[in-house]
Amino acid sequence: MTLGTALIVLAAGQGSRMLSGLPKVLHEVGAQPLLAHALGAGAALDPERVVVVTGHGAARVEAAVGAIAPGAVTVRQDRQLGTGHAVAQARPALADFGGDAVVLYGDTPFIAPQTLRRMAEARAAGNDVVVLGFEAREPGRYGRLITDGDRLDRIVEFKDATETERAVRLCNSGVVMARAATLFDLVAAVGNDNAAGEYYLTDIVQIANARGLRCGAVTCDEAETLGINTRAELAGAEAVFQARRRAEVMAAGVTLVAPDTVFLAADTVFGRDVVVEPNVVFGPGVRVAEGARIRAFSHLEGAQVGAGAVAGPYARLRPGTRLGAGARIGNFVETKNAALGDGVKVNHLSYVGDAEIGAGTNIGAGTITCNYDGVLKHRTVVGTEAFIGSNTMLVAPVSVGDRAMTASGSVITADVPAEALALARARQQNKPGLAVKLRARLLAIKAGLARKAE
Ligand code: UD1
Ligand code: CA
Repeated sequence: MTLGTALIVLAAGQGSRMLSGLPKVLHEVGAQPLLAHALGAGAALDPERVVVVTGHGAARVEAAVGAIAPGAVTVRQDRQLGTGHAVAQARPALADFGGDAVVLYGDTPFIAPQTLRRMAEARAAGNDVVVLGFEAREPGRYGRLITDGDRLDRIVEFKDATETERAVRLCNSGVVMARAATLFDLVAAVGNDNAAGEYYLTDIVQIANARGLRCGAVTCDEAETLGINTRAELAGAEAVFQARRRAEVMAAGVTLVAPDTVFLAADTVFGRDVVVEPNVVFGPGVRVAEGARIRAFSHLEGAQVGAGAVAGPYARLRPGTRLGAGARIGNFVETKNAALGDGVKVNHLSYVGDAEIGAGTNIGAGTITCNYDGVLKHRTVVGTEAFIGSNTMLVAPVSVGDRAMTASGSVITADVPAEALALARARQQNKPGLAVKLRARLLAIKAGLARKAE
């Protein structure tokens, strides 16, 4: 019988090198906070409990945890006395937990699910404590794993390491797995007599060995352990993330015409045979159904695009947009909180917000839903197979019935019944010959001005 797994995610650090008012773990990669990536990685172990240790910016981090992982518990570490001290804060929350605990860092977004599963296997193979290490190209200031055959002997922090120890390239990622009760017992024995005066989580290895427990290391690619400390590293992580997601979506049957110019969010969902043209940005919460095409220079967030629909070039789909199958959104069209039925066309220069547009309706160039009166937002409802003439202002709240039409340039302030034609503009007058007379007068004025200037 397995007793399940608990995640302990360390997210109390300040991230001072970010020079930010935002707690480090809330900075985003792929339009998702770093913390969400860490929690997502941990989800590979199907954890029964999740404990996030907060400190700097605790209130904001806690709010984010509530949104990302509603089942998670947060505990506060009021002073950041070290990684060992941080883990100890999770003890009360897991006092009754009999399974394994895994320590992850909130600022380390790329640990692969498979890596965590390999750690669980190493636990099952008889290691009491399993540490995740990696061969560093530049070991720099990482803690070093000192091994003895297949056993892990101890971890030395860079600050405390000898020259020989610093020459070791096998580094500590920070990810640790052990029976929760064992982990907390070990952490309770950690002191702070070291170069940093901190309670090092890493000290548990030496303590465990002294108690006759077995410690082992599992290794992974350095790219997985990439932690974010600076804005430059954040940008580097974004690049890594984008490269991976682009490859994933292409492998799943999506054409990216120029992959390096398409920016995806962690939660972007595509059906098969979607085509994405160059220079498209996907914010959070976008789903694009089979066979749809997102044309160049479009920006989408919180939007659903139906099967076979086409958006762009230069379309902006904002949150709450739902495009039906085969709908067409053309250049310089913005939509927000708008449900557009199957086959709806909004091809040029329009704003459709807080609206519901029935199937088969055509919205002419320059149409605007005037949804905001400066205080309140109002809805526009257009029926099916309607025709909205170019440059119509739909002053919400207003509705246009099925198969109705509005004349170009109309300002529609009252509901239009089904099958009616609404004309709401000044009547045109033609003055015979007046254009010629007017031009002659203007030319005379111009000639007079030129004489004066001489
Ligand atoms: C730590 C490891 C080091 C490893 C490196 C990998 C220790 C003592 N050292 O060093 O061996 O090579 O990570 O990146 O564990 N945190 C808290 N509370 C604290 C201190 C830290 O929540 O009191 C959190 C931080 O927010 C961060 C994580 O723990 O997410 C790691 O802390 P950090 O100070 O960056 O550790 P390093 O010095 O990099
Ligand atoms: Ca760090």
